[in-house]
Amino acid sequence: METVVSGIRSTGKLHLGNYYGALSNFVKMQDEYNCYFFIADLHSLTTHPTPGDLGSTIRQVVVEYLAAGLDPEKSTIYIQSDVPEVAELYLYMNMNAYLGELERATAFKDKVRANPDNVNAGLLTYPVLMSSDILLHHGTKVPVGKDQEQHLEMTRTFGNRFNRLYNVDYFKEAFAFSYSNKLVKIPGLDGQGKMGKSNGDASCVYLSDEPEAIRKKVMRAVSDSGPTEMNQPKPEVIQNLFDLLTIVSTPDTVSHFDDLYNRCEIRYGDFKKQLAEDMILATQDVRNRIKEIEGDDEYIKKVIKLGAEKAGASAQKTIKEVREIIGLKKLY
Ligand code: TYM
Repeated sequence: METVVSGIRSTGKLHLGNYYGALSNFVKMQDEYNCYFFIADLHSLTTHPTPGDLGSTIRQVVVEYLAAGLDPEKSTIYIQSDVPEVAELYLYMNMNAYLGELERATAFKDKVRANPDNVNAGLLTYPVLMSSDILLHHGTKVPVGKDQEQHLEMTRTFGNRFNRLYNVDYFKEAFAFSYSNKLVKIPGLDGQGKMGKSNGDASCVYLSDEPEAIRKKVMRAVSDSGPTEMNQPKPEVIQNLFDLLTIVSTPDTVSHFDDLYNRCEIRYGDFKKQLAEDMILATQDVRNRIKEIEGDDEYIKKVIKLGAEKAGASAQKTIKEVREIIGLKKLY
């Protein structure tokens, strides 16, 4: 059975981008594959969260994983820092990751542009830690959104380079995966292209948002003054809203608003109301389960402990083998 590995950083509440880009695929994959899903708390350290915030966001992501339907009986659900072997593999993999290729990574360049005062080494070597997460369990399928595709390419480069350097056929190649065949990019509500926490709360609909909050955000979403000619192509901000509608609504609803748009008869107020109500419906079950699970400390602890044990066993085996391949043998 193929092994699946993926994670989400503990940087806050999960939004529809995380859900449709990653988490909804995790849930489906657990019936078909040997799955490892983790909370990437080490990756979230690049932005220096306070210890208090870090602890509560890690817990929040665990709750949201479970609320979305991840099942600890089917998948290994763990916290990245509970498996310190990943930091050791990261050290080894850093020895054959080169400055030029790390600097060329699109996500790195975007982060440098957005926050030039915090270009730390952890940010530069982010893809090396990510490759270590995957290689640690010999993952071959990695459910992620479109923005992570390049990191998967880099993971293959690092794994293949390790194999060549030590003349082994040890690490397998991992590929980004989505059930929809195409990796998805969920747009934000702010006309900025991608839904993301770094674009601010107004851009994101969170899985835990109450219906009233969703209505408010959607009604304020960036749009324009409306089409002026029949069948004119949609500008990006409007296409983004249609893309969101496609994800949460039925094809009939989408084609209804599409027709209205093409006939220059669309009223954005009605369109946004429909979008908000369909988002509320699409997130309803997860929202309710978050409320059920978040107070259940015992259950959460049990899940995390079980995950740490299962992921630890797989990680320890890999690290032992990697040390042998590298030549780090005990001399005593
Ligand atoms: P993070 O926390 O930035 O994102 C987690 C997942 O959510 C997806 N995602 C989106 N997908 C579609 N549209 C969006 N607007 C959107 N926003 C976020 C991301 O593509 C991602 O799948 N680097 C990873 C975390 C990670 C990881 C790994 C993933 C660390 N190690 C190993 C896979 C395997 C990340 O992007 O986190």
